[in-house]
Amino acid sequence: MFGFARPPEEQAKVADVDCSEQTILVTGSTSGIGRAAAQSFGRLGAHVLVHGRDTEAGAEVVDEIESTDGTAEFLRADFIEPQQVSELADTVSESVDTLDVLCNNAGGLFETVEPTSLGVDPAFHINHLAPYQLTAELLDTLGSGSRVITTASIAHRGTTLNLDELMEIAGLSTAAAYARSKLANVQFAAELGRRLTAAGREVTSNSFHPGVIPGSEFGRAFPGISSELFQLFDGSPFTESVEEGAATLVYLGVSEDVAATTGKYFARRRENRPSPDARDRTAQRKLWKESAKILDIDEPLAEYADASD
Ligand SMILES: NC(=O)c1ccc[n+]([C@@H]2O[C@H](COP(=O)([O-])OP(=O)(O)OC[C@H]3O[C@@H](n4cnc5c(N)ncnc54)[C@H](OP(=O)(O)O)[C@@H]3O)[C@@H](O)[C@H]2O)c1
Repeated sequence: MFGFARPPEEQAKVADVDCSEQTILVTGSTSGIGRAAAQSFGRLGAHVLVHGRDTEAGAEVVDEIESTDGTAEFLRADFIEPQQVSELADTVSESVDTLDVLCNNAGGLFETVEPTSLGVDPAFHINHLAPYQLTAELLDTLGSGSRVITTASIAHRGTTLNLDELMEIAGLSTAAAYARSKLANVQFAAELGRRLTAAGREVTSNSFHPGVIPGSEFGRAFPGISSELFQLFDGSPFTESVEEGAATLVYLGVSEDVAATTGKYFARRRENRPSPDARDRTAQRKLWKESAKILDIDEPLAEYADASD
């Protein structure tokens, strides 16, 4: 496919952007889309905070970035553990004055729907609650001009998210759990954008679909041989490369084109209309409140809840 493996910053037309004054956290950057984006931010000169669970892979990504114009450090945190999310937020807050870009990218489709310590399935926990908590705990570290980007998915379409049934996992498939967690990602990003604007914070929040990307480790929890089958599609015209997926993340992270855009959903670096459920403001606000309740934390930006009306 044309553009295959071209560096994300070239695809996003931001190769001339100087990020040498920027600190960028990319969660889930030990592999796949996050890793390609972290490398790209590094080539633009940024200080990149690389995150994941795999320490060896994290060290490799740090080395890759430091062999270019960037600097980097690896921060380990398992998003299934709220305490580790808090420790990650503390480490970031203590080490940087301002976090310029927060990429909420870590996540995936998980092998089980068995409830986690928070009583929800792992996809909802790792893909939605963990970035919600991390963002809440990093709000004071975001400055004027900072950007929050959440990696969602086209899988958010055609699903619903009934918060009253969140804890009922009987009959829930891992794919359905994944899809509704990605709907939560789009709703979260929109609600965050609206509340930040209402708070006069000049911090943007957007979400995006990276494409269908068999070349990442995304298929690792697919059942049976479907993981291998998915990878066979890498390079086919119906799929994207990790660099193409990362290009939208890099675009949202540093392009001037979207410096003032907030609360939107993107695909292939273009604004895209998400599903009706994703755009439902009442649902967005309900998700925001319920997420704080499940995590047992104060509702972030609670005084700006009316911005959803
Ligand atoms: N690939 C696709 O077709 C596709 C399509 C739409 C959306 N997406 C989304 O794109 C994002 C990145 O996925 P990818 O395709 O690049 O897959 P990937 O290669 O599997 O990357 C996932 C990243 O998330 C991290 N992660 C997973 N579970 C974690 C946990 N419990 N705690 C902390 N970090 C964790 C992994 O780190 P460790 O391995 O170090 O734990 C890894 O760095 C995900 O949000 C995914 O839902 C992917």
